[in-house]
Parts: sequence; C-alpha cells; structure tokens
Amino acid sequence: MSLDLVFLGPPGAGKGTQAKTCAERHGLSHVSTGDLFRQNLKEETPVGLMARGFMDKGLLVPDEVACQMVRECLEGEGDTEGFILDGFPRTIAQAETLDGDLSRMQRPLTAVVSFEIADGMLTERLTGRLTCRDCSTPFHVAFNPPEQEGVCDACAGELCTRDDDTEQAVGARLSEYRDKSAPLLDFYETRGLLCGVDAAQPVDGVSAALERALEDR
Ligand code: AP5
Ligand code: MG
Ligand code: ZN
Repeated sequence: MSLDLVFLGPPGAGKGTQAKTCAERHGLSHVSTGDLFRQNLKEETPVGLMARGFMDKGLLVPDEVACQMVRECLEGEGDTEGFILDGFPRTIAQAETLDGDLSRMQRPLTAVVSFEIADGMLTERLTGRLTCRDCSTPFHVAFNPPEQEGVCDACAGELCTRDDDTEQAVGARLSEYRDKSAPLLDFYETRGLLCGVDAAQPVDGVSAALERALEDR
C-alpha cells in the first residue's frame, strides 16, 4: 500500500518544512506546486513566465495549469513509496480534478493533513523565511536558522528571500487561502480523509504530531 498524502494549510503553516523531512523518512516523492512554478520561472519556461504575474501578486495560478503540472508529475513518478502533494489542491475544482486523475490511476489518497495555526503567527514566519535557491529547503532567521549564515544545510546552496514573501503579497496569499482553499477542509472532512496537526509548535513538535497522525491512519 502506498502512502499518498496531501498537505493542506495556510501560507507559512510549515507544509514545505514538514514535507521535506516526512518524504525523506518514508521514501515519498515531494511534489510542491509552488516549488515547481518557481523552477519553471527560473528556467523561463512558458508555464513559469505565465505563472509569475499571479505569484508576485500572491494570487493563485489558474486551475488548469496547476492540475496539468501535477498530472505530469504523478504519471512520471518513479519508484517511490508514495507522494506528498504540498500546496495542491488549492481550490475545490483542483480537488475534483485530482480525484478523477487518482481514480483513473487506481490510487486513492491515504490522508489529507491539515496544518492548523492561527493567522497571527503566519506573517512573522513568512517575512523571516530564507529559501534555498537550489533545493528549495525553507529556513527561518530566528525559528529555524541554518548552521552557517546564508548557506543551505541540505545542499550548501545560497539562501534567498522569496519574491512573494513581502508584506503585501503575504496579505493577498492569506486572503486567497481563506476564500479558495479553506473550503477544502470541509471537502476532505466529508470524505473521511482529514486529519489535523497542531502546526503552532516548534518544528520537532509538529513532526512528532504528524507521525502520530499518520500512524493512526
Ligand atoms: P507555495 O509555494 O505553495 O506557497 P504557500 O502556500 O503560500 O506556502 P508557503 O510555501 O509560503 O508556506 P509553507 O506552509 O510551505 O511553510 P514553510 O514550511 O516554508 O505557493 C506560492 C504561489 O504559487 C501561490 O501563491 C500561487 O501563486 C502559486 N501556486 C502554488 N500552488 C498552486 C496551486 N495548487 N494552484 C494555483 N496556484 C498555486 O515555513 C514557513 C516559514 O516558517 C519558514 O521560514 C520556516 O522555516 C518556518 N517554520 C516552519 N515550521 C515552523 C515551526 N513549526 N515553528 C516556527 N517556524 C516554522
Ligand atoms: Mg511551501
Ligand atoms: Zn539547498
């Protein structure tokens, strides 16, 4: 049985931080749509150039583009024990498309993990974030600092600030989340897939809570 997970939560909740270590622990592939869009942008592909206008403003990229990118990823997936979708789906329409794709692959989701945290904690997490240019691992100047300033612990790449971690874009991202993504909590609760994890504690505490939630499944 594969372990096929969706990580759901507001910007800054810690989806990427937890997905990196959880994927490593369980041999899963980590599919982050945000990272994929940023990679496309770096390579100046048509998808990347198109997505930029939305991302810089903190708005969601159109559903079809996100869905097609994830579909290609899942179809091309190598020999792993399962996957973590980090930041996808983000709308009910994306969730319905994913449902269809996964039933065709006869691969139903194992669980949808909801990272629960109060809005008030998110801005500080995002404006203090440092992201590796090469492997996308997130750090934080105060809460999760790298061993050496400006250098990624995982790959020694250069740490930088994401273009959409400005206060203005963060505000727009939070409101996109509330309007378009929060309804997914009910969508997956109704399907018996949702499990909540307290994301307001330190990184190690969240990892432990996540492991417990997965064991209960
Ligand atoms: P995306 O890259 O997915 O950004 P996001 O959802 O806004 O989420 P973040 O990556 O900002 O937060 P995170 O939960 O991963 O937190 P992290 O672990 O880094 O999307 C970016 C854009 O791409 C979107 O705005 C949209 O334009 C587009 N896009 C992406 N997917 C799309 C889709 N499906 N459809 C349409 N458009 C899409 O942690 C944050 C910070 O907190 C870090 O500094 C970290 O070190 C720190 N931290 C983490 N955990 C803790 C902890 N427990 N305690 C203290 N600090 C912590
Ligand atoms: Mg992320
Ligand atoms: Zn790195």
